[in-house]
Amino acid sequence: MSVESALALIESVKDFKVLFVGDTIIDEYQYVSVLNKSPKENLIPVKYLSSEVFQGGVHAAARHCESFCKAVTVATDGNGVRKVRMVDKNDVRKLFEIHYNGHITPIVERDTAGFDCVIAVDFGHGLIDSKAVEWLTKTPYLAVNAQTNSANSGFNLITKYRHSDYIVIDEPEARLAAHDRDSPIETVMEKLANGRWLKLIVTHGFHGAYAYDVGRSEFAKLPALSNTVVDTMGAGDAFLAITAPMSKTGSIEDLLLIGNAAGAIKCQITGHRSPVTKNNLIGFLKKHDSFRSDSRR
Ligand SMILES: Nc1ncnc2c1ncn2[C@@H]1O[C@H](COP(=O)(O)OP(=O)(O)OP(=O)(O)O)[C@@H](O)[C@H]1O
Ligand SMILES: [Mg+2]
Repeated sequence: MSVESALALIESVKDFKVLFVGDTIIDEYQYVSVLNKSPKENLIPVKYLSSEVFQGGVHAAARHCESFCKAVTVATDGNGVRKVRMVDKNDVRKLFEIHYNGHITPIVERDTAGFDCVIAVDFGHGLIDSKAVEWLTKTPYLAVNAQTNSANSGFNLITKYRHSDYIVIDEPEARLAAHDRDSPIETVMEKLANGRWLKLIVTHGFHGAYAYDVGRSEFAKLPALSNTVVDTMGAGDAFLAITAPMSKTGSIEDLLLIGNAAGAIKCQITGHRSPVTKNNLIGFLKKHDSFRSDSRR
């Protein structure tokens, strides 16, 4: 792994046409300040200050890819789920969340001819049903995340995809899908991959990420690249969206470096105010490299 090879890998996807398939989600933050505890009830009263509405879900993921590839298309259906979170304005900590379920129709088969990579960001709200999984798994190059969230826990496991070329899931998603709480993560990844996936990444929040190249039987890991965190929401989606096109040819070491850099940049952005861009990412990697060289001197 070197920053040079990561930069070359980033350049290699500039003419790619990419299709994102996934659920529509609207993420709304209602910023509040926390008042004193209610004397009568066991609840925490808050005072409303302001709000901000973001296009989340598949649209937020796709936007991360836009500056890296030539064309990014989104396939989704319905007005999606609106997730309203009360957020303490002081520190962007989320206090509680309400889901307003809109209308999501299972997506019907699309023509994927002409796309270099299809990325399924499967938030498990109903867009990708078993029929959709059938056609997705037949596309020439498929990258997937199947998210476990508060609305689908245990019902949207990555094992619903019999085949995929590249997977990015987080550690709880990997352990849930493998039914394995305790084994070392490498054992969980081996169990899960079982010949099904060619490259498998398991992200682990502030610990960074692990990778398994199934074809080469090789593991790699890389600690997180930053400890400046404003908002982690969507960090795994940024990791997937940016590295998926690159996973066709990239080494797992380069994918970990680029993915962790994407995650680190996302963690510094509130909600989905802006996407991770190619310029941000290249700048981050160069800075990281010069910091590493200085600390080796
Ligand atoms: N607290 C953190 N500190 C530093 N880096 C982080 C932190 N949280 C996430 N990251 C970076 O982002 C990557 C993906 O994060 P994480 O494992 O939290 O994904 P996730 O749970 O799938 O998130 P989401 O589903 O909200 O997109 C990590 O591998 C890491 O590089
Ligand atoms: Mg995730």
